[in-house]
Amino acid sequence: MIIGLRCRECKKEFSPSIRYVCDDCFGALDVIYDYDSIHLTKNLLANRENNMWRYKELLPVEPQDSLYSFHSGWTPLIKASKLAKALGLNNLYIKNDSVNPTFSFKDRPAALGVAAALNFGLEAVGCASTGNLAAATAAYAARAGLPCYVVIPSSIEQSKISQAQAYGATIIAVEGTYDDSNRLAAQAGEYYNIGMVNINLRPYYVEGSKTLAFEVAEQLGWDVPDTIVVPTASGAMLNAICRGFEELMEIGFVRNTPATIVAAQASGCNPISRAYKEGKDVIMPIQQPDTIAKSLAIGDPGDGIYVLRRLRNNGLAEDADDDEIIEGCRLLAQTEGIFTEPAGGVAIAVLKKLVEQGKIGKDDKIVCYITGNGLKAPDVLQSILPRPIVVKPELKALSSILLGG
Ligand SMILES: Cc1ncc(COP(=O)(O)O)c(C=O)c1O
Ligand SMILES: [Zn+2]
Repeated sequence: MIIGLRCRECKKEFSPSIRYVCDDCFGALDVIYDYDSIHLTKNLLANRENNMWRYKELLPVEPQDSLYSFHSGWTPLIKASKLAKALGLNNLYIKNDSVNPTFSFKDRPAALGVAAALNFGLEAVGCASTGNLAAATAAYAARAGLPCYVVIPSSIEQSKISQAQAYGATIIAVEGTYDDSNRLAAQAGEYYNIGMVNINLRPYYVEGSKTLAFEVAEQLGWDVPDTIVVPTASGAMLNAICRGFEELMEIGFVRNTPATIVAAQASGCNPISRAYKEGKDVIMPIQQPDTIAKSLAIGDPGDGIYVLRRLRNNGLAEDADDDEIIEGCRLLAQTEGIFTEPAGGVAIAVLKKLVEQGKIGKDDKIVCYITGNGLKAPDVLQSILPRPIVVKPELKALSSILLGG
């Protein structure tokens, strides 16, 4: 099904291999498919298991058994009526990707990256990560029986480090930013022949996030949302979601793609939304990201320019500060019972702002992607939540607390 890799800039083609930049122009490489040879039907899909591999014809690598059996993807698409009401909307859905096996959307690209590493016969995997990919790569590596080396900025949440360590990964904590970690991981991948899933296996890795579009369309009965809201750091996921909808159109499963794409960023690390709002055509990296949404703290977004081009065509970008992010997390949790980490708070806060600014229609069919679980950064709401009420174990101690007491 896959023909090879193609440079996004000069269009030069390469056979499937471990490479991620074009030899000629250093452009990013994408997987290319022979759509004419894809014979996927909606009926075929109806009989497949509910996991991300049901779309295998549109993915670059077939999963090995240990990866297939992990139940990745096919996360709930939830009609969010109470949140919609709070925001003044009528047709809002949450794609709750925080309930993947490692509790973030990174299960999807990590699964593809590790599957590709196994296919290419690599003997170790790793990644550069803002936290969630570390845990995901580590878990899939554990299932695949490969050692895993993750490179992270030392400032990320301890809970994310612990999660990756629990799966057996070796953690290399860099005194520096994500961009510093990414550079070191790239060098290590090349020098030690490690499959760095989001670096030298990136063309395969990013394809996993297309399933976020496939699932939403299928869960909507092969319909497409008017508007999607995507928390954005490197821009790889947003780009992949858009390509996912485009591919569904290519194979005739849907008739259109989302009319409005929203990139949601944190104000403390907003290279894409800043460029968008300032009308620029280039992305100026943020040297020192400073946001509670640590998983979105990528100052120099690899796919930023491609996201910006999409947004110029049919999109919006906005950002939210720490207080707005925390309020976004609280609102989602207390209206819909979904506890998200700050990246999800960014998506909700940005949606709220754009509705208030009149840029999103109240009757639009909106899908907001919630990409990480609140238990990964459980303390962020502490600043706004009341302390527990401490009482003696006596009923009379509750009289001033409980309703009707
Ligand atoms: C929970 C969460 N949401 C969103 C993103 C943004 O993804 P991308 O870097 O592909 O834009 C990340 C990235 O690490 C993340 O961990
Ligand atoms: Zn090129």
